[in-house]
Amino acid sequence: MKQFSYPIKRIGIIGGGQLAQMSAQAAKTMGFYVTILDPVANCPANNVADSQIIGSLYDPEKLMDLAKVSDVLTYDIEHIDIRTLHQLVDAGYAIYPSPKVLAIIQDKLKQKQLFQQYNIPTAKFEAVDKLSSKYLIKLPFVQKARMGGYDGKGVVVLKDNIVNALQIPSIIEEVIDFDKELAIIIARSINGETACYPVVEMVFDDNTNICDIVVAPAQISTEIDYKARTIALQAIEAIDGIGIFGVEMFLTHDGQVLINEIAPRPHNSGHYTIEACITSQFEQLIRIISDLPLGITDLLKPSVMLNLLGEKNYRGTPIITGLEETLAISGLTLHWYNKETTHPFRKMGHITVLDENLADAIDKVNMVRDILTVKGTEAI
Ligand SMILES: Nc1ncnc2c1ncn2[C@@H]1O[C@H](COP(=O)(O)OP(=O)(O)OP(=O)(O)O)[C@@H](O)[C@H]1O
Ligand SMILES: [Mg+2]
Repeated sequence: MKQFSYPIKRIGIIGGGQLAQMSAQAAKTMGFYVTILDPVANCPANNVADSQIIGSLYDPEKLMDLAKVSDVLTYDIEHIDIRTLHQLVDAGYAIYPSPKVLAIIQDKLKQKQLFQQYNIPTAKFEAVDKLSSKYLIKLPFVQKARMGGYDGKGVVVLKDNIVNALQIPSIIEEVIDFDKELAIIIARSINGETACYPVVEMVFDDNTNICDIVVAPAQISTEIDYKARTIALQAIEAIDGIGIFGVEMFLTHDGQVLINEIAPRPHNSGHYTIEACITSQFEQLIRIISDLPLGITDLLKPSVMLNLLGEKNYRGTPIITGLEETLAISGLTLHWYNKETTHPFRKMGHITVLDENLADAIDKVNMVRDILTVKGTEAI
């Protein structure tokens, strides 16, 4: 049997946002030492991690500094300097998911081509450099920047003209008239063992295109559930991913499941796992990158997660109203990300409600949406 001493491992996280914060919380619970790299001194993970290197996620020297003080590296965001990551791997540092996997995921075109290559069902697509050039898919379509998009930024739906088209390398996709958006967290270990979390439903806000709530488990038939799990697992095996992956999918009205995209990190659709599953997605990530056994992913109770976004017309220091009323709701847990400032639709925190009855959990979350607001000191 192996022997461990404290700290069990030194984890380096590139990025210090809420995903790093919650990963660090899980790591600290288990006796790891956590260093984060982030340009913002008071970033969400700062008050949880043992130490922080202040610097850009694109600064080769800072990435090297982080690697030197860590046994293993991971990241909470996909927009980071991949060239340096490749160099670090070549120099013998451990990074999960690997830069090879990240390179495919960073580029929406490469990602879609991989799905196509492995016959994983996905929306029809085509690559375009500029929309002034010729393309085959006809309007309406969805245009997505190949690189750099997040939270719906870099995605435009073009209905009957291309006035608002992005003039950058992108893909265009047929519009899927979906019944639901599904997601699943897949865990895959260094030796290729996998564990699936429950299939969940992501409900988006029509105006902001940001995920509003996540319902776990998704209200779907066992047949659809099986399809979604199979496709998600196939995708992670195809990419040979090691780590935690959020796989986003569309369920069409005629029962097809299409893969939308993969996130190579803990995902918003898996925040509910902190309270609702035996092993959270964050603990699972720490186990995987430390080459420790996978934890059980079973759902303990139905649950619903609600993102707490900054109100539309405010920025500045956040001001929360309705907190006491929110915390009076039974089965509710609040996660606050400690961001110093708010701006319109910024993800400031989330709440998760566990309830024996899923419909009751949804009702409770709807109450919170009415009660709780995150405004800022400055009206805009
Ligand atoms: N082909 C499509 N048909 C219909 N709706 C789509 C399509 N592609 C994307 N969408 C909608 O736009 C949202 C954002 O798209 P996508 O997930 O590809 O981009 P993203 O910027 O990476 O988003 P996020 O960071 O929020 O995951 C999807 O969740 C979905 O609601
Ligand atoms: Mg997405």
